[in-house]
Amino acid sequence: MSSFRLRPFSHWFLALFLTFTAVGQVAAQDAATVSKEGVTPGATPAAAAPAAAGTAAPAGDAAAIAAGDALFKGNCAQCHGINEVVVGPALAGIDKRRPTPWLISWIKNSSKMVAAGDEYAVKIFNEYQKQQMPSFALSDAEITSILAYVKAEEGKVAAAPTGGGGTAVPAPGDNTETAEGGAGKYMNAVLMVLVVVLIVLVVTLVIIANIMKDVLRGRKDLDGRDLEVLEQKTDWGGILRSKWLTRTAVTLFVLVVLYSSLQSIMAVGLQQGYQPTQPIAFSHKLHAGEHQINCAYCHTSVYKSKSANIPSANICMNCHSQIKTTSPEIKKIYRAIQRQQPIQWVRVHNLPDLAYFNHAQHTQVGGIECQTCHGPIQNMEVVYQYSALTMGWCINCHRETPLNTKNNGYYDNLVKLHDNANAAAPFTVSSNGGTECSKCHY
Ligand code: HEC
Ligand code: HEC
Ligand code: HEC
Ligand code: HEC
Ligand code: HEC
Ligand code: HEC
Repeated sequence: MSSFRLRPFSHWFLALFLTFTAVGQVAAQDAATVSKEGVTPGATPAAAAPAAAGTAAPAGDAAAIAAGDALFKGNCAQCHGINEVVVGPALAGIDKRRPTPWLISWIKNSSKMVAAGDEYAVKIFNEYQKQQMPSFALSDAEITSILAYVKAEEGKVAAAPTGGGGTAVPAPGDNTETAEGGAGKYMNAVLMVLVVVLIVLVVTLVIIANIMKDVLRGRKDLDGRDLEVLEQKTDWGGILRSKWLTRTAVTLFVLVVLYSSLQSIMAVGLQQGYQPTQPIAFSHKLHAGEHQINCAYCHTSVYKSKSANIPSANICMNCHSQIKTTSPEIKKIYRAIQRQQPIQWVRVHNLPDLAYFNHAQHTQVGGIECQTCHGPIQNMEVVYQYSALTMGWCINCHRETPLNTKNNGYYDNLVKLHDNANAAAPFTVSSNGGTECSKCHY
């Protein structure tokens, strides 16, 4: 018996390792496609399940979902989206976060649960700036149907805002949050299983190797190579001192440092989600949402010039010289006017000076809705930065968005030239030079 019997194990090990990495790759690709389509993995089986379960269940489910739809729109939609944070949290996956009985008592009276010190209730209450969710006199069945509706809507992409004859372009990254969360969990599970399997394999191999050595030791007819294997000692000191190890360690270290510093450099100046507290509790939800005041009534220059101005106190006074005159928040407007000082609004969106962005080009000429870039402003109690505002964000949209050339004589010749050269490709902003550095950089 000679050592060649031990050797094939290393090949085995390598082969198994490669197989598992390959499986991991495929799984990663699956997860990637899932997240591109914006479908949470959990949503597919849920939607498919009733179909398989027979005929009785879907009818009942559909009725509950329809009832839940109406109840949700009537009671919850002004503060909650399914897949996006509005005033309250996005409700997708709520059935996984909390058990149904908890949800029922929360929806019936959330402040009672916060007052009683329920750990999760207190945490989420604090997370949402201690805004109290109202209590609802709904029956258990009604609440269950709302939850069924929420589950059915999970993972669906929010409908793009329409109107104004514009092209409603979904903002890049619209649906990535929920989808990536789901796909990420799925990937983590797969990786965990792979790691466990690998550990089990390694342990088994070590045990087998030891058994083989024991068998060898029990025999008398050993030749030189067998003895060599038996007396082999792992030379840890040698390994530690070896050049190979130092090189690998140094390379790994450099790579990790490079990677993490790159990550932090990329994040410099990124302010997505930035939501400062404003000096007056001005609500877009109230003004632009409920009272449907046109955006351009206040942001008067947004269709005409580079920047969308913030309204002066005079514009507020058009209405608030009569409306809510005794409210302490409105009195702040009066005080600003008395002192002849502008209201000190905190700026939310701010590109660095090196970049040129023009509102009129996008809203008036391009016909893009405010919400494509700014998100559901009409639902925001306090404005937050919805998009990343990175160069990649601008460029991605320019690559994907067809130019709005209809009824715009300026583009007639350009479209003809483009179609002659390459009629198959759409005439996007980038076909017209929208990704040239000088278009956006001074
Ligand atoms: C006036 C705004 C408002 C309305 C209306 C509202 N909610 Fe809420 N909801 C909130 C806020 C804010 C929170 C975060 C917790 C807090 O601050 O109390 C919340 C939290 C929740 C949570 C916990 C979410 C989580 O991620 O753990 C659930 C579930 C919920 N609401 C369900 C509902 C349902 C169902 C309705 C309709 C029947 C509804 N809410 C109506 C504001 C509202
Ligand atoms: C009644 C006046 C009024 C109306 C109507 C209104 N806004 Fe505003 N908007 C303001 C004021 C005041 C601010 C500054 C305070 C703040 O950020 O909340 C502001 C801030 C903003 C900001 C953030 C600016 C920054 O600092 O970066 C955006 C984006 C915005 N509005 C978009 C919209 C859109 C889109 C609409 C229409 C759906 C709209 N607004 C309708 C008054 C208005
Ligand atoms: C076109 C009319 C209009 C304009 C312009 C307008 N508002 Fe209002 N505002 C309203 C209405 C209507 C309400 C709701 C009053 C109510 O709830 O009874 C309101 C409510 C408010 C409230 C809540 C007051 C409270 O205590 O409930 C604040 C704060 C406010 N507005 C601030 C502003 C500011 C700041 C501006 C200028 C940037 C502005 N509004 C411009 C119509 C207007
Ligand atoms: C193509 C994307 C895009 C669209 C569409 C868009 N905005 Fe903006 N908006 C931006 C960017 C980017 C900034 C930051 C500009 C800067 O810092 O120079 C901004 C800033 C603002 C500001 C802060 C003041 C300013 O001009 O810097 C307001 C207010 C605003 N937008 C309102 C609107 C309104 C109202 C609409 C719809 C009529 C709209 N925006 C449509 C991308 C967009
Ligand atoms: C939601 C899609 C979208 C986003 C996001 C967007 N743009 Fe645009 N942009 C357009 C469209 C559409 C046009 C073409 C408008 C037209 O001329 O018809 C355009 C045109 C332009 C132009 C003029 C290009 C030319 O050929 O003359 C500039 C400059 C520009 N954008 C800068 C920016 C900058 C800077 C950002 C990021 C801060 C940005 N854009 C983000 C859609 C977008
Ligand atoms: C569609 C508009 C657009 C085009 C085209 C564009 N940029 Fe930018 N660029 C931006 C915006 C917006 C920023 C600021 C974004 C930020 O701070 O993350 C930026 C930032 C930068 C920065 C600063 C890096 C940073 O993160 O602050 C550099 C350097 C740059 N661009 C180079 C280029 C070059 C080179 C080209 C041509 C190949 C180019 N840009 C084309 C919009 C554009």
